[in-house]
Amino acid sequence: MWAGHSRFFLLASLLSAFAVLPGEADEHIALKPPGYSNTSDPQKMLIFIPGGNVPNNHYESTARAIQAAAAEQELMLWVVIPAAFNRLCIIECTSTVTCAPLHSGVESALSLALAQGWVRGADSEDLWLAGHSLGGVCANTLFQAYRSASAARPYAGLILVGSYVDISGNYSLPSYPAPVLTLNAELDGLVRPGKTSVWWQQHMHIQESRGEEFAITNKPVIILPKLNHSDFCPGFDVPDDLPAEVDQVEATGIIAKSVAAFLALQMEATGVTDKLDSFELIRQQIQWTRQFLSPYLQAQSMEHSAADTMTSDEGSSPFCAEAQHLIAGLSDADDARIEVHDGFHADSKNLEHCHPNWTALEDGRLLVNSCSHTDYYPDTGQITAASEIACKMLSSDRVAQQVKAGAARPHVQCSDVNRHAVSLAEKLAAPSTLERFRKKGRGWCFLDDTHTAGNIGPIWIFKDALQLEENATCMSVTSPSLFTELDGQTYPGCHYCKFLSPAFVLDWMMTDSLKPAQIFRSSQSHKLKFETAIPKRAAMHFSLPQLSVGYQ
Ligand SMILES: *[C@@H]1O[C@H](CO)[C@@H](O)[C@H](O)[C@H]1NC(C)=O
Ligand SMILES: *[C@@H]1O[C@H](CO)[C@@H](O)[C@H](O)[C@H]1NC(C)=O
Ligand SMILES: *[C@@H]1O[C@H](CO)[C@@H](O)[C@H](O)[C@H]1NC(C)=O
Ligand SMILES: *[C@@H]1O[C@H](CO)[C@@H](O)[C@H](O)[C@H]1NC(C)=O
Ligand SMILES: *[C@@H]1O[C@H](CO)[C@@H](O)[C@H](O)[C@H]1NC(C)=O
Repeated sequence: MWAGHSRFFLLASLLSAFAVLPGEADEHIALKPPGYSNTSDPQKMLIFIPGGNVPNNHYESTARAIQAAAAEQELMLWVVIPAAFNRLCIIECTSTVTCAPLHSGVESALSLALAQGWVRGADSEDLWLAGHSLGGVCANTLFQAYRSASAARPYAGLILVGSYVDISGNYSLPSYPAPVLTLNAELDGLVRPGKTSVWWQQHMHIQESRGEEFAITNKPVIILPKLNHSDFCPGFDVPDDLPAEVDQVEATGIIAKSVAAFLALQMEATGVTDKLDSFELIRQQIQWTRQFLSPYLQAQSMEHSAADTMTSDEGSSPFCAEAQHLIAGLSDADDARIEVHDGFHADSKNLEHCHPNWTALEDGRLLVNSCSHTDYYPDTGQITAASEIACKMLSSDRVAQQVKAGAARPHVQCSDVNRHAVSLAEKLAAPSTLERFRKKGRGWCFLDDTHTAGNIGPIWIFKDALQLEENATCMSVTSPSLFTELDGQTYPGCHYCKFLSPAFVLDWMMTDSLKPAQIFRSSQSHKLKFETAIPKRAAMHFSLPQLSVGYQ
């Protein structure tokens, strides 16, 4: 089912600004290998499925560059670029059971190549499926559609650029029954680095379980520095993309080299030296990807870290534990006397029933139990960071009372902790990310906390959300808070906050912050899209019966 959602997402984000004019239709393109000589031996073929709305001739220079790079590896590579109805392959392949129109489009593109002298051999060894963006989603579905029909794989493997395979299941990266190259871009405003990190993690697991050689050869996940989403289809600017930082010639060159290196590793005929060079290129690209994405994964692990398998609890939010220290506002010496154990709740209903508490430890220190929960955008969306981290903490008054010390900073706001999230993200960021952000990125505006009406817990949990709103200057962030006095009626001495996630901060630093203000201003749809990406949690979970429970 997931693939269906992912198709919808890419479809939606690639459809926004373009309509196909009547009468415009692409022709299938077949490209003979450079230096082609007539032979009766079977020849390799790359089928390149275009992204949504992109006229297929925008892939011709990329395809020719791939052919030239392959030729340097002694690989004679044909390419066809099928034309899709209305330039949307998704219309021809809405699911694995309705993919016949795309399949027949591909076959008729192939027959064009046959007419030019291509010799078709065993598809499971010679036919490689590539796709850009939405085209990658279609390629993934096409593979699945024609694999289920027979035991043999219908194509030799997949090359996805600015795209990805299923997140989970039989066609996720680890389970995919064929080699898959995932080749994405750093400055991609659509398939963002944080999104690619999902498959990057899978790549790392493959490396752990099957070794580096297997992972690099068969399931490489690469982010190419300084390229954007549109660099794969030169001359066509995909809406919502980011500015690239290399010229197109350089971009096309590295794309071609990477694809050719992956193919060379798959070919028995590749010479030993070429294989070693190809392996080394991909290994280095993977190394760059690792240092680039590690900060994001680290930031995500602060949102929630899983429990060790020995316990039945749901782990903790290291960020909430840190926030409790900050909110307590003690001097360093007094802060050393509190220990915070956070308890994470995947279900917000369990957060509702969890309340922070404290215990005096035998050594005179204070143990504080905080409660946490994170919310996410739909997993079909572009942002994989938490949309907010909800933390239920003890108030500074309560902690100070229990450690019998005055707080050094008694009035720490949720927004102060948001500032901390930003500085954490900046400390974690890869040097290139930070430098670019400092030079070109829009920063943050921290607005004062809002206070939940009537201090009603369920409203804070289910209705009040972290507010994010961007303008030409900055992304404004406002935390909903709930604060009770020590002499309050219900759950006195608490301080609840919904915080900005450090991973969300990194996502912003790597992508949307870099959109130039004038582009941002002219793009109405951007804000709309951003807003609709915010989970409809309030509408889904908030109901009157919960209100009548009263203050939680
Ligand atoms: C290739 O050579 C064969 C015979 O060797 C010939 O029959 C065929 O027409 C040639 N094809 C092209 C496209 O030149
Ligand atoms: C995944 O593959 C296994 C083994 O081939 C099969 O038994 C299972 O039904 C497949 N799952 C789905 C959802 O297709
Ligand atoms: C993406 O990069 C290409 C090539 O450098 C450039 O022409 C294009 O304008 C970039 N797209 C955006 C939205 O800046
Ligand atoms: C204190 O909080 C912890 C963690 O949420 C919980 O397991 C425990 O039952 C609470 N203790 C009391 C006395 O409520
Ligand atoms: C953007 O929002 C911030 C915070 O609300 C405000 O201070 C700033 O003036 C706004 N900038 C523009 C260009 O509207």
